[in-house]
Amino acid sequence: MGPSPTFDQFGTSPTPDRGGKGSNPDFRLHITPLHFFFQLRFPIQRKLKLAQVHKQRKAKRKKLFISRVLAMATNTQDQQSQAGRHQEVGHKSLLQSDALYQYILETSVYPREPEPMKELRELTAKHPWNLMTTSADEGQFLNMLLKLINAKNTMEIGVYTGYSLLATALAIPDDGKILAMDVNRENYELGLPVIQKAGVAHKIDFKEGPALPVLDQLVEDVNFNNPIHFFFFRIC
Ligand SMILES: C[S@@+](CC[C@H](N)C(=O)[O-])C[C@H]1O[C@@H](n2cnc3c(N)ncnc32)[C@H](O)[C@@H]1O
Repeated sequence: MGPSPTFDQFGTSPTPDRGGKGSNPDFRLHITPLHFFFQLRFPIQRKLKLAQVHKQRKAKRKKLFISRVLAMATNTQDQQSQAGRHQEVGHKSLLQSDALYQYILETSVYPREPEPMKELRELTAKHPWNLMTTSADEGQFLNMLLKLINAKNTMEIGVYTGYSLLATALAIPDDGKILAMDVNRENYELGLPVIQKAGVAHKIDFKEGPALPVLDQLVEDVNFNNPIHFFFFRIC
């Protein structure tokens, strides 16, 4: 072991008389705080730079998100009227923000909506009582619940044009059955061509009339012994 190295006027290289270049060929093995400083300086600088870039990107993403939400809230007349309708029917629920609800519909719900459901939703939107319809997010939630419990036979009271009925029909197996009731057959028949086109109409047994007498009849019917795995009641 030679003496500890001293450093030249720049403070970076050991001088030859104190173990530096020329006197000690192993001078690179001598580790001093200065070596640490120069070894650490550049990685630390790089890390600081990366952290700065990350922070800038995060701020940019946040700005983009806020501007998209604001754009959706103010964009077109149509979007405004949709948001208003949503507020009227009380779909806002936990979200407490029409703009946020609209954002979720546009970015997450509508892209996952099966084509026949989209067609039925758009057809129903033109109907004067469209406020009654099940929303697209509810339809997808319903579909998910049915699949989770492997429901086969279901009952639905309050069909309207059939949005929730179609969500159910698409979720249950091919030999599944839906006993559906509504006092109004006309509205059901409005959506029926879309349900038929989707290839699921054979799963539906539609009964026209008030639900209570039909239910009373079912209770008395000794031949009706199919278990019902899922009930969806939505009358108004
Ligand atoms: C809110 S809408 C149903 C919405 C439907 N589930 C959908 O996804 O679009 C309510 C429906 O219940 C029906 N209705 C009201 N009273 C009823 C009753 N006593 N028995 C059966 N249907 C009834 C109405 O004709 C109306 O179509």
